[in-house]
Amino acid sequence: MHPDCEKIMLTEEEIRSRVKAVALEVDRAYQGKCPLVVGILKGSIIFYSDFIRDLSIPVELDFMAVSSYGSGAVSSGKLRIKKDLDKDVSGRDVIIVEDIIDSGFTLANLKALLHERGASSVCIVTLLNKVERREYDIVPDYNCFEIANEFVIGYGLDYNEQYRNLPYIGILKREVYGG
Ligand code: PRP
Repeated sequence: MHPDCEKIMLTEEEIRSRVKAVALEVDRAYQGKCPLVVGILKGSIIFYSDFIRDLSIPVELDFMAVSSYGSGAVSSGKLRIKKDLDKDVSGRDVIIVEDIIDSGFTLANLKALLHERGASSVCIVTLLNKVERREYDIVPDYNCFEIANEFVIGYGLDYNEQYRNLPYIGILKREVYGG
């Protein structure tokens, strides 16, 4: 375990098996379709790459990077797009893949935006859901793990851009982030 970790919350094996199970459900639901799978950079990249390899349906891949600075109590009510999609979503079935829902600001805004752009359907797949932090009315269609309000790192999630490459999800020691 990394020395900055308090403890491991989810092991590689637990993540692997749950991601497979969720991907199987999505696979069944999208038989006969070719959804556009949209990864939200950067936190989702590891989850995204595991998830899409567990799907048997044909998929197209695309990515967005958005800023969540407007989230929480000081919400600007607007999502800042740092990198937009390459593809036109009009008439497409879109699957958004996210690492974590916290306040729900990012996904509530993204979902509305993709509907505005004419997507036929927008579904949300998340790795982690911090239900107790929710401020916006958003529920993932598929979620791997509901977690408590801990500072989590690894498997794509960072603190100051570090720890994303840890293969498990750990709880960061308080002394590292001064919490
Ligand atoms: C995280 C996460 C979501 C968002 C969730 O992104 O990946 O996009 O915050 O928070 P919310 O539900 O309160 O909107 P972050 O801004 O940390 O960027 P990153 O993915 O590059 O780490």
